[in-house]
Amino acid sequence: MLEFEHYLEKIEMTCFIQPHHEDITQEMWQKIDAVIEENKDMPGAIITALRQCQDIVNYLPRELIDYIADGMNLPRSEVFGVASFYSLFSLKPKGRHTIKVCTGTACYVKGIREVISRIEGEYQLKEGGTTADRRFSLEGVRCLGACGLAPVMVVGEDTHGDIAAEKVIQSLEAYK
Ligand code: FES
Repeated sequence: MLEFEHYLEKIEMTCFIQPHHEDITQEMWQKIDAVIEENKDMPGAIITALRQCQDIVNYLPRELIDYIADGMNLPRSEVFGVASFYSLFSLKPKGRHTIKVCTGTACYVKGIREVISRIEGEYQLKEGGTTADRRFSLEGVRCLGACGLAPVMVVGEDTHGDIAAEKVIQSLEAYK
């Protein structure tokens, strides 16, 4: 009997067919399956599962959202609703490095607009967008909580304060 149950469990685990997606490797799918397994019977675990899957793939393509929903036995529309509601999630590909530029008052007064236009011009990048080679994403944020260092930008985990428009590209070139 136990053997039969184990067999059924195995079938259940392997019956979801991983869709083909150019941004998701086989290794990523394995990690995604592990995330689903770990979270699938936990109430309210969908946000955790989406976050962990986003960490693996770097964003949440629609095919992946549907796959997570199926794996966790949740309606696809509900999971898509969660993924599109929270700003924590990105449904579009992100760059390897996210540049957050502060558009709050202190940074505005100290010239962040000039910094932003230099970045946009150099990398053909618009606020809210990602470069074609997925090197950078650019996001405008209200206040980074470091007004004393204005104008401020954060790249990944690094905070760059008192950033001068003439030097911003030089600073960004360190991120490949
Ligand atoms: S206004 Fe830019 S860090 Fe606060």
